[in-house]
Amino acid sequence: MCRLDTAQTPINDPIRFEKTSRGRLSVSKSTEHSSSTKAAAHEPRLPAPVFDDRKHHIRIYSGDCLEILPAIPEGCVDLIFADPPYFLSNDGITCHAGRMVSVNKGDWDRSRGPDINHEFNRAWLAACQRVLKPNGTIWVSGTSHVIHSVGFAMQQLGFKLLNDISWVKPNPPPNLSCRYFTHATETIIWAAKNKKSRHTFNYKLMKDQAGGKQMKSVWQIPPPDREEKRFGKHPTQKPVALLERILEAASHPGDLVLDPFMGSGTTAVVALRLSRCVVAVDFEDASLSLTLARVCAELVFVEMSITCSENDLDLYRGSVDRSGCTGTRAMGTSLSGKLVRRERSYYFVGQSRREVIYSVLASTLDEAWQKFRSSAQAQTEILFVIKTETEIYLAQ
Ligand SMILES: C[S@@+](CC[C@H](N)C(=O)[O-])C[C@H]1O[C@@H](n2cnc3c(N)ncnc32)[C@H](O)[C@@H]1O
Repeated sequence: MCRLDTAQTPINDPIRFEKTSRGRLSVSKSTEHSSSTKAAAHEPRLPAPVFDDRKHHIRIYSGDCLEILPAIPEGCVDLIFADPPYFLSNDGITCHAGRMVSVNKGDWDRSRGPDINHEFNRAWLAACQRVLKPNGTIWVSGTSHVIHSVGFAMQQLGFKLLNDISWVKPNPPPNLSCRYFTHATETIIWAAKNKKSRHTFNYKLMKDQAGGKQMKSVWQIPPPDREEKRFGKHPTQKPVALLERILEAASHPGDLVLDPFMGSGTTAVVALRLSRCVVAVDFEDASLSLTLARVCAELVFVEMSITCSENDLDLYRGSVDRSGCTGTRAMGTSLSGKLVRRERSYYFVGQSRREVIYSVLASTLDEAWQKFRSSAQAQTEILFVIKTETEIYLAQ
């Protein structure tokens, strides 16, 4: 379980990105309080991230990307994947798993009319263009509801359009009205920061993946499977395979990837797996929780079993047989044993050294934190707290 509260790091703490050799993220806290801070007072400040793993360079912000992006330094991002609102949630219907369902994805996806929608697209695209490195690229995915506006806004802003990928879904939902072709594709526009950009394209890798032929701009990739959705559902979750293709095509390990519309966190999961640094943003609590569940599952492998405390199961092992019987009763023969003991333990895992650096019995997480803060380890930065519950039943 990871900590979500940011109470220890004040909002607007002047956390800055620092560019190092390959775009790695590092954090510095400004201590200057000179007159120059007057001008800086109007500079947008990054809020404390809701998740910040400095070992794997994953940083997640809760907020509106139009407010977060201006606070990211200019020219530090290698690749952006953006899956913005489609503006299609207008009470229509579609077919899902053989049933008629609403197309509505959420309030964030409601259309506010073509002009305002286009202004919004221009605004976030301009903010993305500012943070891209000179040779950085952006990938934007969308349906016909939004993608033409995105393409036009890119032309207005001077991006260099590189490709438009047709992502073909092998099993699209049928069209219920029978008045249109079945919508079987989404478009992904790939563009570089500007006309002068010399973008990264891992041509040979893509050719190898296409069986030795030049890879085409038509990609057949199935939607996310059950395993990818095991932590919960997001209405527009993109498949891991799609993000893998994109990150492998146009970035290198250690590069900085940004996702301003993170959703279920597919970009963050893939960046972690492919050793890219990642910054992701979303303003919905449900999306943040889902992303944290997915990212933490990638980061933490917990294996706890009774074998680890086997030596303690019988306090006076070998000294005397107090059981009163000669045979062993197999646990599990009766599911309704009498509960004789219950305890809850909390394990604190360090931010830099990924080990359990403190463990404590406590009834609540708050109590566990209090005990941690008064322990000798209080100064150690913590990334996760893992809770285990142990119950001992008397076999009947
Ligand atoms: C199309 S979904 C992204 C899905 C994502 N690619 C995935 O694989 O799960 C768009 C997401 O952007 C978020 N969003 C919409 N407008 C936003 C804004 N202005 N700032 C931050 N997040 C926003 C929504 O909450 C939603 O989760």
